[in-house]
Amino acid sequence: METVLITGGTGLIGKHLSRKLKEKGYNVLLLSRNSSRGNSNSVYSWNPGKNEVENEAIQRADYIIHLAGAGMGDRRWTKKRKQLIIDSRVKTCELLFDKVQESGIKLKAFISASGTGFYGAETSERIFSETDPPSPDFTGEVCRRWEQSADRFQESNIRTVKIRTGIVLTRNGGALGRMLPAVRLGIGSALGSGRQYIPWIHIDDLCNIYIRAIGDKTMTGAWNAVAPEHIINREFMSKLAKVLQKPFFFPAVPSFILKLLFGRMSEIILKGSRVSADKIISAGYKFEFPDLENALQNLFTKR
Ligand SMILES: NC(=O)c1ccc[n+]([C@@H]2O[C@H](COP(=O)([O-])OP(=O)(O)OC[C@H]3O[C@@H](n4cnc5c(N)ncnc54)[C@H](OP(=O)(O)O)[C@@H]3O)[C@@H](O)[C@H]2O)c1
Repeated sequence: METVLITGGTGLIGKHLSRKLKEKGYNVLLLSRNSSRGNSNSVYSWNPGKNEVENEAIQRADYIIHLAGAGMGDRRWTKKRKQLIIDSRVKTCELLFDKVQESGIKLKAFISASGTGFYGAETSERIFSETDPPSPDFTGEVCRRWEQSADRFQESNIRTVKIRTGIVLTRNGGALGRMLPAVRLGIGSALGSGRQYIPWIHIDDLCNIYIRAIGDKTMTGAWNAVAPEHIINREFMSKLAKVLQKPFFFPAVPSFILKLLFGRMSEIILKGSRVSADKIISAGYKFEFPDLENALQNLFTKR
């Protein structure tokens, strides 16, 4: 049985992914800052600030999936918060690299989360693909440095995959969890111009792509993990209201209100790029949820 060690595995994606990996027959270990391990021999602790990792976690790993990172949209982007967003991804990745080197294990692959924020937030009809350069804006800079730190594994001949993830749709939590209360109250509306694209992916498809990245030895480098259907914010909100059988007639929330509420972080709400799913489709991946309405119906109407 092969063992997958997941950093940040206690979060939104990690919880789903752990369950799916176990169903596929993998042994799953978590690396967490808050390990209240009890009798569990599958949750290990690390303290990235002190460069500490439980050695046994690394020793047992055949694969590492690096999901850890302070939430991009959880708090206002102060200087301190921005540094934490970068360090919690980049320094943790460097720490993992050092520990893997020290341990002498032969890791089969290193798979890191990244984001479609790599391409920046740009409302236009341009479609971004994996060969495009990183954007100079903050999300682009975070993803560039995050991926660069992951590339150290590839440089030492460990297969490395970077999953440029769009907004992940799940039943609870994440970005969708923040949109739901207003829509459920019947006051869902577009945000800002409503013309910004929302690169999205159903959690099941994202987990399938991670699982494929483990098993498919031909997968290396960057891969966009977004559904093929391109949707702008106004259409997204209207489909969400439709699936929840709620009205959608409110005026859009003006940009200035979102800027006042969220400061610079409002960029990730008010702007959004169009991102291509062609590479993963060309590699033979078949999306379970290629279109938004079915994805939302699966999450909210089928139990
Ligand atoms: N969800 C999305 O829509 C989305 C989209 C694009 C990219 N991503 C990326 O995918 C990764 C996982 O996303 P997610 O939605 O599952 O995130 P999440 O729910 O916020 O979970 C992230 C995990 O990272 C760990 N973490 C948080 N702050 C940390 C810090 N300062 N230092 C080290 N570890 C920290 C936590 O685990 P412990 O408390 O157990 O240590 C947490 O459970 C993230 O890096 C995220 O940026 C997510």
